[in-house]
Amino acid sequence: MATSNPVPEWLTKSLSTSARIVNTDTPVKVKGKLSLGIDLGTSDVVSMVLDENNKPVAVCLEWADVVRDGVVLNFHGAMSIVRKQLAQLEAKLGVQFTEANTSFPPGTDPRISVNVLEAAGLEVSAVIDEPSAVANLLALDNAAVVDIGGGTTGIAVLSKGKVIYSGDEPTGGRHVTLTIAGSQDLSLEDAEALKLSKGKEVWPIVRPVFQKMADIVREHIKGHKVKSLYLSGGSCALPGVRELFEQEFPEHIVVLPDNPIFLTPFAIAAYRKK
Ligand SMILES: Nc1ncnc2c1ncn2[C@@H]1O[C@H](COP(=O)(O)OP(=O)(O)OP(=O)(O)O)[C@@H](O)[C@H]1O
Ligand SMILES: [Mg+2]
Repeated sequence: MATSNPVPEWLTKSLSTSARIVNTDTPVKVKGKLSLGIDLGTSDVVSMVLDENNKPVAVCLEWADVVRDGVVLNFHGAMSIVRKQLAQLEAKLGVQFTEANTSFPPGTDPRISVNVLEAAGLEVSAVIDEPSAVANLLALDNAAVVDIGGGTTGIAVLSKGKVIYSGDEPTGGRHVTLTIAGSQDLSLEDAEALKLSKGKEVWPIVRPVFQKMADIVREHIKGHKVKSLYLSGGSCALPGVRELFEQEFPEHIVVLPDNPIFLTPFAIAAYRKK
């Protein structure tokens, strides 16, 4: 069986720092050039600022229903959140941002995110598809990035850092929450809260949803040279996800960092246009 979860220490640290500082407004002074990345997701908008050593120094996360599967449903709402987060980051760091990186799920139109950022008054320094951002960060080769977000699961196969195949499946955290709501007779809000606070308890209920996702991933990567699976996205934070993927993919190296909700935003902020 392949060894699993070889998460580099710098990544573990960066993501745990992100989790620690998210939505905190204590001012900090940071020397050197800062880089900002903005991830417009189905469940949340995340803006992350890195210092010149790529260490996260400020992070904003707002749960939001403004984007659905790569399509901005509520342009004004998305722009307002970006503006608000920008103001919070600027107040915390005592600087003004003029540019930011952003991203798009493969197969969707990158101009959507670009338009939102520009409407919020930012110049777009780079716009990159999400798995390529992760591939770039981790120098991936013969690997697949599986991003289980709020609305969708994105699967991308990477060779020498380039996406050579991508697919998107409409199963994500929302379906996990729906499953909990249905089985426990709860409202969606209560089911979401239960999922976030008692992951271990709900795991047996939602395991079949992830089992299905694993089957879907297997279909997508069939025929491709994939040695490692990099799991990303907030939904992978449920205790049990890594073990399930390890069991389902015994021939693969399964890599899942803690705080996976911050992996894609971190990769977006860290991306440098060559
Ligand atoms: N600790 C946790 N345990 C379980 N699920 C979690 C946890 N934290 C976040 N989630 C789930 O992760 C999802 C959000 O993840 P993420 O931010 O990666 O999605 P997104 O980027 O907004 O969506 P998409 O990539 O589909 O556009 C939500 O469904 C949320 O309920
Ligand atoms: Mg996402």
